[in-house]
Amino acid sequence: MFRKAAFGVLATTICLVGCSSSSTITETEWLDVLEEQLSDTQKKQQQKAVAAREALFSRLMARLTQVIQAEGAAKAIPICQAEAPQLAEAVAKEFHVQIGRTSTKLRNPANAPPPWAQSRIEQQPIKPTFLAHRDGRLACLLPIRLKAQCLTCHGSPEQIQPDVREILTQRYPKDQATGYREDDLRGWFWVEVPKE
Ligand code: HEC
Repeated sequence: MFRKAAFGVLATTICLVGCSSSSTITETEWLDVLEEQLSDTQKKQQQKAVAAREALFSRLMARLTQVIQAEGAAKAIPICQAEAPQLAEAVAKEFHVQIGRTSTKLRNPANAPPPWAQSRIEQQPIKPTFLAHRDGRLACLLPIRLKAQCLTCHGSPEQIQPDVREILTQRYPKDQATGYREDDLRGWFWVEVPKE
């Protein structure tokens, strides 16, 4: 995609403009690409990422809604915790990508972003963000906004039922993922698509 020399110059420029020394290695490997500048190959990769995200989101939503309706929100927590990574793994295999969910206010520290996403999420991107690796991979950060039904477990403490609050406190002593309102930016799906 990028010739090596041009890549080096670009990466250096980006680093001069705005990266901390700790992220220099990542910055020289991944370069931001504007959506309108994606090549045809990268657009195919983008479509794959979006399809994987849709699949994961709709499967998570379906399970959440099903369990909340049948058994209540408190019962949905352990299922959500155990099933979300399994669903992500199944989608990853099916779509030949790597995929996960992350946030700057994590509930589960295991959902920390991959290294390439760390500095990008700190900027709280509200639009899909794309990065190209010189080896041909495309990485995407796709924003997740909260719907009303998410507030059962991510809303203000008053919105969260006591039984739900209790389980959340037990399982996630460092939970930062409450106090949100409908339509707030909750986090991002991160997707890494291999070389086409
Ligand atoms: C039944 C309670 C419940 C509901 C409803 C719920 N979540 Fe969560 N959410 C959780 C739990 C529990 C985790 C931690 C999962 C884990 O352990 O990986 C979580 C984690 C997340 C994460 C991963 C990042 C992190 O903080 O660990 C995102 C993103 C997220 N939720 C978004 C949403 C969105 C969007 C909705 C609505 C569509 C929603 N959640 C509805 C309980 C819930």
